[in-house]
Amino acid sequence: MSLSELWVILLFFGCFFNVVKLLENGLARSPPMGWMSWGYFMCSVDCDENPNKCLDEKLIKSVADTFFTDGYQEAGFEYIIIDDCWAEKTRDINGRLVPDRKRFPNGMKYLADYIHARGLKFGMYTNIADVTCMHYPGSKGHFEIDAKTFAEWDVDYIKVDGCFVGEDYLNTAYIKFGRSLNSTGRPMVYSCSWPYYIEYIHNKTPNYTNIVPYCNMWRNYHDVVKSWGSVKAIIRHYQSRYDQLNGYHGPGHWNDPDMLIFGTNSLTASQSRVHLAVYVMLSAPLLLSCDMRNMKDYEKQLLLNMDLVALAQDPLGLMAKPYQFQNSVTLWVKQHLPRKGDMYNSVSFALVNLNTKDVAVSFTPGDYGLNSTDAYTVMDTFTGKFTMNITLKDKINVIVPPEDVIMYSVFPL
Ligand SMILES: *[C@@H]1O[C@H](CO)[C@@H](O)[C@H](O)[C@H]1NC(C)=O
Ligand SMILES: *[C@@H]1O[C@H](CO)[C@@H](O)[C@H](O)[C@H]1NC(C)=O
Ligand SMILES: *[C@@H]1O[C@H](CO)[C@@H](O)[C@H](O)[C@H]1NC(C)=O
Ligand SMILES: *[C@@H]1O[C@H](CO)[C@@H](O)[C@H](O)[C@H]1NC(C)=O
Repeated sequence: MSLSELWVILLFFGCFFNVVKLLENGLARSPPMGWMSWGYFMCSVDCDENPNKCLDEKLIKSVADTFFTDGYQEAGFEYIIIDDCWAEKTRDINGRLVPDRKRFPNGMKYLADYIHARGLKFGMYTNIADVTCMHYPGSKGHFEIDAKTFAEWDVDYIKVDGCFVGEDYLNTAYIKFGRSLNSTGRPMVYSCSWPYYIEYIHNKTPNYTNIVPYCNMWRNYHDVVKSWGSVKAIIRHYQSRYDQLNGYHGPGHWNDPDMLIFGTNSLTASQSRVHLAVYVMLSAPLLLSCDMRNMKDYEKQLLLNMDLVALAQDPLGLMAKPYQFQNSVTLWVKQHLPRKGDMYNSVSFALVNLNTKDVAVSFTPGDYGLNSTDAYTVMDTFTGKFTMNITLKDKINVIVPPEDVIMYSVFPL
């Protein structure tokens, strides 16, 4: 074979591998953190009637202000995302989407500038069908012009919903819309709802191998609603689907269990710890959805706990593996940085009790992937206090209170 023939072959395989590799837009290297309107504000467009629950420019600016002044931006909360119900009911004469003239009087580029000036990023929403889930104009037949419009508005993140279309269309349209986004030249995190609709609307098993290369994140399961029951159902879902989902999860491509319901007066303090702890252990996106004025002190303390944020944003981006104990406590185990001598990972443990009574647990951390024969030092992840040193043989005995979680992060010494 001549050298030029070899080049032809290498080029051929080079192109081939380009086709199958992951979405390489350089974004979402760690799971996105921020705020999204839907969970609490939903389609709150009746602002004269209810000025305190109104999806408008003032709200979005106030979230940006709170993030900037109250430490959220510094902690890593970055994307501020407007979900459905932001648009006028009809496109303009050039076929472009138009922000609601009353609620967004200065348009979206103005909001993007306001958000960017505070070191934050701006997200928006559309649906892959001809209308959105709430019957505002959708992007079907308008992929190019909508992608271009979002790019011109300096959008950094786009959530694309999947209401009202068939399975075959979902499987092609998300890929096409991704190409339209790419061809704008503006990097935008591409958040897809594709597998959720395949599984729960069309009752088929999503083939993640064919989805993951096209999106930065994707919804797997039902929308979160403001209740402990909903949070528990989400936790149980990811627990039962670990084997299906963990292989697709990592930097640039994330399973998305939907928003946190902090700040909505829905959870007790211990339930809030469980909600956040499991999302942190999953390396899930952390998107708030609330009136930031209603955030309770204990919720804010949890969200701005930098040991938790560091674990949530760990560069390895691994999903914690769940182990179900007989007494129905779940132990979630997550490997992460820092690494000792490039060989021994740190590991975090979350003992989650979804039941309504105390459960006594005894476990040996050394049985769950610790491999340094030297000691490990143990930090209580919530308090940041180093409480003990252990070797591979040592047991930890602890009582996990009802609807609560105990977390340890162990670092090789
Ligand atoms: C478009 O796709 C190419 C090839 O994957 C990638 O290198 C580039 O960063 C993408 N650009 C945007 C704006 O997403
Ligand atoms: C999923 O898609 C991949 C790539 O097209 C294919 O190789 C695989 O067989 C599919 N898996 C199932 C279960 O259909
Ligand atoms: C220890 O475990 C980690 C994670 O499983 C692995 O990457 C590493 O190679 C192991 N180190 C040794 C020395 O076995
Ligand atoms: C753990 O070991 C380190 C290093 O020997 C020591 O500095 C530290 O005080 C020990 N911590 C506890 C809680 O015993």
